[in-house]
Amino acid sequence: VTTELTAHYEGTPVIDDALRARAAKVIPGGMYGHMATKGLPAGYPQFYARSEGCRAWDVDGHSYIDFMCSFGPIILGYGHPGVERAAAEQRAQGDTQPGPSPRLVELAELLVDRVEHADWAMFAKNGSDANTIAVTIARAVSGRHKVLAAAGAYHGSAPWSTPVLTGVTPADRASVAYFRFNDIESVRAAVDDAGGDVAAVLISPFKHDAGFDAELVDPEFARQLRALCDRIGAALILDEVRAGFRIAHGGSWEAIGVAPDLSAWSKAMANGYPIAAVLGGAGYAEGASSIYVTGSFWYQAVPMAAAIATITTLGDVDGVARIVRTGTRLREGLAAAARAAGVGIRQTGPVQMPTLTFEGDHNYARSNLFCSTAVRQGVIFHPRHNWFLSVAHGDEDIDAAVEAAGAGFEAVSQQFGGS
Ligand SMILES: Cc1ncc(COP(=O)(O)O)c(C=O)c1O
Repeated sequence: VTTELTAHYEGTPVIDDALRARAAKVIPGGMYGHMATKGLPAGYPQFYARSEGCRAWDVDGHSYIDFMCSFGPIILGYGHPGVERAAAEQRAQGDTQPGPSPRLVELAELLVDRVEHADWAMFAKNGSDANTIAVTIARAVSGRHKVLAAAGAYHGSAPWSTPVLTGVTPADRASVAYFRFNDIESVRAAVDDAGGDVAAVLISPFKHDAGFDAELVDPEFARQLRALCDRIGAALILDEVRAGFRIAHGGSWEAIGVAPDLSAWSKAMANGYPIAAVLGGAGYAEGASSIYVTGSFWYQAVPMAAAIATITTLGDVDGVARIVRTGTRLREGLAAAARAAGVGIRQTGPVQMPTLTFEGDHNYARSNLFCSTAVRQGVIFHPRHNWFLSVAHGDEDIDAAVEAAGAGFEAVSQQFGGS
C-alpha cells in the first residue's frame, strides 16, 4: 500500500496550488478556521476531491489514509452506504420543509433511548450552537449568569467561548470563568469568585487541547464536580461535541457513574451530516422550552435521517469496541515503530482519539517533521490536534499507517537524534 501511495505522491500539487492562489483573492487569509493548512508543515493538501471509507483524495489525485475524519464527524467512514441510503431516501421525500419531518421525533426518541441522562432532545447545527443552547437553558432554569468552563476542553467559536479573543468584547466574556481540568480546588476557587452566581459548570469528557498531551478524566474529580453542582444548584453540562459516540455508545461519563444535567453533541452523530443536539434531564425540560433558539436550517430532515442511521449502525456493529480495537493496534504499532527508531514519544487520550507528542519537542519541530513525512507517504496525521479513528479503519490501514509513521520516526531520529 505504501509503495502505491508513495508513487501517487510523485506529482506536484498543481491544482491545489492554483486553488490556493484563487482562494487568496476571495477567501479571507486564503482559508480560515480549523481546516486551514497554512499552520501545518509542508505537504498537506488544502483541497480534497473525494473521500471514501478511511481514504481521501486531494484535488491532484494523491490518495491518503485519513486519521482526522474531518476532525471527528466521520465515524463510520466517508460515504457509508447505510447512512447515504437513509439520507438519499429522506432527500427524495423532503429536507428543508414547512416544518420538521417525523425524523425529528424519531431521532429524539433514539437519543433518549441511548443516552442515560437524557429525557429530551433539541437540535441545531454545530457544537458551538449546542453548548450555547445548553448554557442558555442553565441560565433560564437558575436565573444566574456565570458559566465555569474547563480550560483545554474547547467549547466552541461563539464570542463567549472562542479561544481567540480578537473581535470579542469584555462584555462577551464577562460571565465566563475557567477552571483547570481534573483540579477540583480550581473549580471551588472559581465558584467562590463567582459569589454564588453560577448557572453552569461546563466540561468535556476528557482534556484535549491542541498542542498538549491529552488527559483522561479522573473519575473522583467527575464525582466531586457532580456533588459540587448539586450543592450550589448549578447545571453540570457535558460537552460531548468531540467525544460523543466515540468513547461510549451513550454518555461518555456513564461508565464512571456521573450523569450531567445537560449535554451538547454534534460531530460524529450523523457521520458528516450537519446536525447538533442538546440533551437534558426532565428537570430542565421546562427551562428548555422557555428559551428562544432556532435557525433556518435546524429542522432539515436529511441530517436527522443520517443521524438515525449512524447511531443505529454504531449500536448494531458495536462501533466503539471496533474503534477501540483498531485504535489499540495503532497505539501499539506506533510505540514499536518509535522504539525501533529510538525516538521518545508520548501517546495520550483515548485510543479512539489519539494524541501523539514527542519528548523534547520544541515548537513542534519533531511532530511537524513526523507528520510531513507521513503525509508524503499517504497518511494524514496532525502534528498538534488529536486524531480520530473510524469504524472504516481496518487492520491493513492501521498497518500501512504504522509503516508511514515508521518513516516519520526515522526522519525525526536522523534530524534530531534518538532520545
Ligand atoms: C469539545 C468541543 N466543543 C465544541 C466544539 C465546537 O463545535 P463546532 O465546531 O461544531 O461549532 C468542538 C469542535 O471541535 C469541540 O471539539
